[in-house]
Amino acid sequence: MIDRMSRSLEAGSTVVFTPHYSCSMNRKIVIARQSRSLQFIDRIEKEIHGELNFLNAGELMVQGRALNHLEEVRYPGTVWVLVEFNTGVTWIETLVQLKRLIKKGYMPLLAHPERYRWCRRKPERLINLSLIGCGTMVSARSFRSRKYAAAARNLLSEGLSHALCSDAHSPADMILDDELKNKVYKFSRVPWQILTGEIPEMILNDSRLPELPLRKLRG
Ligand SMILES: [Fe+2]
Repeated sequence: MIDRMSRSLEAGSTVVFTPHYSCSMNRKIVIARQSRSLQFIDRIEKEIHGELNFLNAGELMVQGRALNHLEEVRYPGTVWVLVEFNTGVTWIETLVQLKRLIKKGYMPLLAHPERYRWCRRKPERLINLSLIGCGTMVSARSFRSRKYAAAARNLLSEGLSHALCSDAHSPADMILDDELKNKVYKFSRVPWQILTGEIPEMILNDSRLPELPLRKLRG
């Protein structure tokens, strides 16, 4: 998969690794996972001779009262934290937890909103989240899911996602290459370069993201 990435991505692109963590995870497990992730990055950086930049962060499952491991998973040098919830989470629970994160000084980036029932029913709720500073990121893995593909396409066609990520878990998964770009071009209201370049760069620069829906239509 790393070979495919280095062939498909522009030289100098940044890839952020986001292994799964959970707020309820034991601290020893968190530290061990971080260390494995850093070792992995170290190895592939040598393999591809610096053609891509790699950063280590995490995707944090939020549930219950504990909000642990935020420092360990945040995107390096930023207050952005990629968070996910169980798919059955309610809208109110999502809102409460995201506000708790914001109160703690972090900016939540909501992973794969298309998986949540509240979002499929009322996608305009993502506008409310963007107004309180929350980012949203559709996952390309959802395009291959019978349950989530239509919602993922709809969010992009309505400009209701700030960004698109590969969310690749295995070599069989899609990456941000021309095949995906051509697929997304058919339905996305927002240009590929914004979803996969400009907005991710804003996140890495620790900037606040624009309000949704993104209005810039392709020319
Ligand atoms: Fe996830």
